[in-house]
Amino acid sequence: MTGPAGRIADQAAPLRQMASSTWSGPDPVPGPGPSSWRLARTLTVTSGKGGVGKTVLAVNLALALGELGLRVALVDADLGMANVDVVLGLMPRYHIGHVIRGVCSLEQALCPGPKGVLVLPGASGLADLAALDEARLWQVLRELRQLDRLADVVVVDTGAGIGPQVMAFLEASPEVLVVATPEPTSITNAYGLIKTLVQSRSTGRDVAPRLFLAVNMDRRRDEGQRVVRRLQTVVGRFLGVEIVTLGIVPYDGAVALAVAEQTPLLLRRPDSPASRAIRQLAWRLMDLPEQPQRPGLSGIVSRMLRRMR
Ligand SMILES: Nc1ncnc2c1ncn2[C@@H]1O[C@H](COP(=O)(O)OP(=O)(O)OP(=O)(O)O)[C@@H](O)[C@H]1O
Ligand SMILES: [Mg+2]
Repeated sequence: MTGPAGRIADQAAPLRQMASSTWSGPDPVPGPGPSSWRLARTLTVTSGKGGVGKTVLAVNLALALGELGLRVALVDADLGMANVDVVLGLMPRYHIGHVIRGVCSLEQALCPGPKGVLVLPGASGLADLAALDEARLWQVLRELRQLDRLADVVVVDTGAGIGPQVMAFLEASPEVLVVATPEPTSITNAYGLIKTLVQSRSTGRDVAPRLFLAVNMDRRRDEGQRVVRRLQTVVGRFLGVEIVTLGIVPYDGAVALAVAEQTPLLLRRPDSPASRAIRQLAWRLMDLPEQPQRPGLSGIVSRMLRRMR
């Protein structure tokens, strides 16, 4: 089939099958193993306002999870300004856009990072997914499913705001970490993002979101707590959903230093106040019961594409 309508029909089968939480057909990635694979838990990190520390938290949270002995993948899904590799001081040859276009395999694009974390560098190529033909889409989803099997947890760093692609990705994500700072604009934008997400979920087909909150760049002891109380109250009262606080990360001069040196904070200053707080976020995350559904990154991407059609 040709033309956009034909392409949509072509894409439907792989999208439906990959969107299910467990894979019921033959395993898409050859090799030994059970017929129903346990896929990675995914945490999508986002914010209403830019520059609040999503990338810093996503990178260091991934490392903290790696320290706990988990197999962790860190995916840069920031479509505008992919910079996970910069914060980690990596110089990747390939990125996610190359995988999507078939220039390289997922395995070739994955960079080994500190603490055993596998890093999939970002690019603007995610938008190209919507235009792939059926065969190529199957291939990409199969590659992503490989990552879902390689990792216990996949941490996904996204861009800020409520653009259609970011929203479609968030709507498809089972667990979303919203990062906010005590700045009034950051709090207002975080609420706006959560509201958009909750309202679109209620009209869509996907399961209810599990929302987490992290307050970053807290400068005073009581300020972060105030932000947590305020957001939890308004989200509960006006949107009728719960947002679980993972923790509060203090403003810490060591963060800017680590970013400037392109060395992750957890390596550069493992005992700094922000490092300690990020480790607590990781412990809290792993302590909390997770969503029963584990669509993995491959499932999120296929759900996202269905929502964007
Ligand atoms: N806890 C902190 N203490 C001090 N500075 C911080 C902290 N967290 C982040 N920063 C500073 O904020 C800057 C922006 O952080 P980061 O790039 O992670 O934000 P972002 O939300 O990912 O931005 P974008 O929306 O552009 O993707 C960092 O370069 C760092 O200097
Ligand atoms: Mg960022």
